[in-house]
Amino acid sequence: MTSRSVTVRVPAKVNVQLAVGGPRPDGFHDLANVFLAVGLYDEVTVTPADGLRITVEGRDADQVPADASNLAARAALALAARREGVTPDVHIHIVKDIPVAGGMAGGSADAAAALLACDALWGTGAGREEMLEICAELGSDVPFSLVGGAALGRGRGELLTALPVGGAFHWVFAVADGGLSTPAVYRECDRLRGDAAVPEPEPAPALLDALRTGDPVALAASLANDLQAAAVSLRPSLAATLAAGTDAGALAGLVSGSGPTCAFLAKDAESARSVAAALSASGTCRAVRVTSGPAEGATVVRQS
Ligand code: C5P
Repeated sequence: MTSRSVTVRVPAKVNVQLAVGGPRPDGFHDLANVFLAVGLYDEVTVTPADGLRITVEGRDADQVPADASNLAARAALALAARREGVTPDVHIHIVKDIPVAGGMAGGSADAAAALLACDALWGTGAGREEMLEICAELGSDVPFSLVGGAALGRGRGELLTALPVGGAFHWVFAVADGGLSTPAVYRECDRLRGDAAVPEPEPAPALLDALRTGDPVALAASLANDLQAAAVSLRPSLAATLAAGTDAGALAGLVSGSGPTCAFLAKDAESARSVAAALSASGTCRAVRVTSGPAEGATVVRQS
């Protein structure tokens, strides 16, 4: 039986390690990308319609394209293109809570959610492998948004290995005014490196251990993002945000992915709340969010 409406909830991510290799001939960079899904969620609802339509609500919804260039629309088109007789006549409604262009994979999350939702709506029965293949075609971070939890991403980030996590980690996110363009941040990273030799990106064993044992102090000591210098170079005010979070008692802070959101790891839930209060008072960011990870990947939460 096909459905009349399907809603999928999908988490944001933070990169606890983002090791970036040199530029590849295809313009991408090889990565050792350790993803952790965290409990900030977008919700994507699909319903049958005459043609493909996208609507977006929530904070900064006006900055999200509401046309076929939206990654969620491209997900619906990609799935329909693989099935004889399936037309992408669907209304995709996105409720945003993940910061837009914030380095938390909000657009990728919406794509993974739309794909899962359309598969359920149309009864197309794509298996996990086909879903991951379509996700990888859509963008480097999309496969992880589908699976959630924690994972190591190799290649350009799309080749995933699930990672064990021994407990919940408590995070505070400092959301900036406006976004940063991911390609621009990668370009700035290359520019800052100049002719310096770039080592092969590898996951840090101590970081993987810290995840496995659920030890926030050890994880804090291993947090690393090769894109951070580039994000701060393009948005110098992030230096003050990072300092405010550590001054506020976070174990450590880093730019999330390509930024500009800054992520702070706290010792526990109570410490996260006090870091959040101090960060809010610091005036160095637009908004502060408190949550924990790992969170589960894209999940159908309503269907009728
Ligand atoms: O894969 P996605 O479309 O999310 O990538 C957006 C942009 O980020 C790419 O066009 C590229 O400029 C940059 N990127 C990269 N290396 C990666 C992932 C993304 O250079 N591994």
